Amino acid sequence: MRVLFAASEAVPLAKSGGLGDVTGALPKALNERGAEVRVVLPKYADIPASFLEHFETIHTFSFHFSWRHQYCGLLRGVVGGVTFYLIDNEQYFKRDGLYGYEDDPERFVFFNFAIAECLPHMDFVPDIIHCHDWQTALLPFLLKTRYSFDPLCRSVRTVFTIHNLRYQGVFGQKLLQDLIGMDDFWYWTSGLEFYGAANCMKAGLQYADRLTTVSETYAQEIQTEYWGERLDGVIRWRASELSGILNGIDIESYDPMNDPALDTPYRGSISRKRKNKTALQRELGLPVSESIPVIGVVTRLVEQKGIDLIDRVLEPLLDEGIQLVVLGAGEYRYEEMLRGAAQWRPEQLALHLGYDEGLARRIYAGSDMFLMPSLFEPCGLSQLIALRYRTVPIVRETGGLRDTVQPYDEYTGTGNGFTFANYNAHDMLHTVRRALEYYRNEESWKTIVANGAKEDYSWSRSARSYMSLYSELLPLRKETER
Ligand code: ADP
Ligand code: GLC
Repeated sequence: MRVLFAASEAVPLAKSGGLGDVTGALPKALNERGAEVRVVLPKYADIPASFLEHFETIHTFSFHFSWRHQYCGLLRGVVGGVTFYLIDNEQYFKRDGLYGYEDDPERFVFFNFAIAECLPHMDFVPDIIHCHDWQTALLPFLLKTRYSFDPLCRSVRTVFTIHNLRYQGVFGQKLLQDLIGMDDFWYWTSGLEFYGAANCMKAGLQYADRLTTVSETYAQEIQTEYWGERLDGVIRWRASELSGILNGIDIESYDPMNDPALDTPYRGSISRKRKNKTALQRELGLPVSESIPVIGVVTRLVEQKGIDLIDRVLEPLLDEGIQLVVLGAGEYRYEEMLRGAAQWRPEQLALHLGYDEGLARRIYAGSDMFLMPSLFEPCGLSQLIALRYRTVPIVRETGGLRDTVQPYDEYTGTGNGFTFANYNAHDMLHTVRRALEYYRNEESWKTIVANGAKEDYSWSRSARSYMSLYSELLPLRKETER
């Protein structure tokens, strides 16, 4: 079974969040189960030169999309045992970072066209193309319309995974028509129309053969008007072809026993974990003490992540005598709020604004608890990484957080963390206080940590679900070929 992952990020080449973790780790897990998965990404300037050394250019050409005529280079290389293809166009991708440019619609429309154009030159004929999030959501649509003259494009099956329904790639009707070369009639009948604008996510939701999202709870939530981000109607319409498959993490990469970012490797030893805690306090200039509870936060600073709840009760939270360690980057309003707070209580709030993989790992290792009070959370990997580093998660019961964190129950001794249901700052505060009470009770804390450590966060179960989903699609392909 040959599968091409089409994505806008994948570790170790490019990452801005959990999407990159998934598209980096899942191919490995699927390959171990006998699939042959390769990944296609844009050739961003940020891809480290040490990885580019492994790539060679296998094809260069230019093609038209709408009135535009663009260069396209196709590179192939093997990194960490996985074959990657990179789409090269310096006008679009030779920039800092991955996204956030005014011409993102044009950059990613180009990327989708370029993948379709490159298919015959890849020396790999995929049975399935698996697209991820809005940046590659146009591809199923292009394959079934613009490229349907090509037997390969016509017969390849497509899977579209929603990692986050909030980001849909919405832009103006005129721009879409201009980029795709679409007349009014096609715009109105294509299904890409979205309240008078154009919506890439909607193309994936309608044209892919199968849909998945990254947890069972999120698969249910997005079918409701409240969480459906105005696409719930389309999702309900395709509900029988939608499955929720929980993400895993790469347990080799996220392994506190074998993580180059940590000075003191550990697994079960509380005293070795505590060494990571004091090292973190030292690194961030906090008072060094094993007994002060450290709560870690590693996050994109956006509304989704529940930063407003932290803002609302920050003072009583710090009055609990904790140290709060925050690593994040994102919206200015949250960065400003946190910057102010860190100046106001420097002995209790250590803030690092920006993206820092090594520090993130030291926070997972050095914290006692990990706070993730998300407004919504399709899956969430941070709580899984925290559990793997024996750090107790405190989360809101939403999406994948609800599916992975079970509240501790002292009577049954079950549960791997602490949870609260309402998006309410005082409910969160109350839950942190509960967690702190148990933290002070060494026996209970050991049980909670041990419960978390028992579970399997690897990709093994979910990779099996993807494999069976792919195999259901293969007979379909044979039929269309006949
Ligand atoms: P999302 O994809 O919505 O951001 P996830 O929990 O699925 O949330 O994944 C986030 C991933 O990105 C985790 O691997 C987390 O450690 C990492 N991450 C988030 N913010 C930062 C940051 N500022 N620096 C380093 N890593 C970060
Ligand atoms: C998105 C979601 C996050 C999920 C990740 C990987 O970024 O916000 O919840 O874990 O994708 O699927």
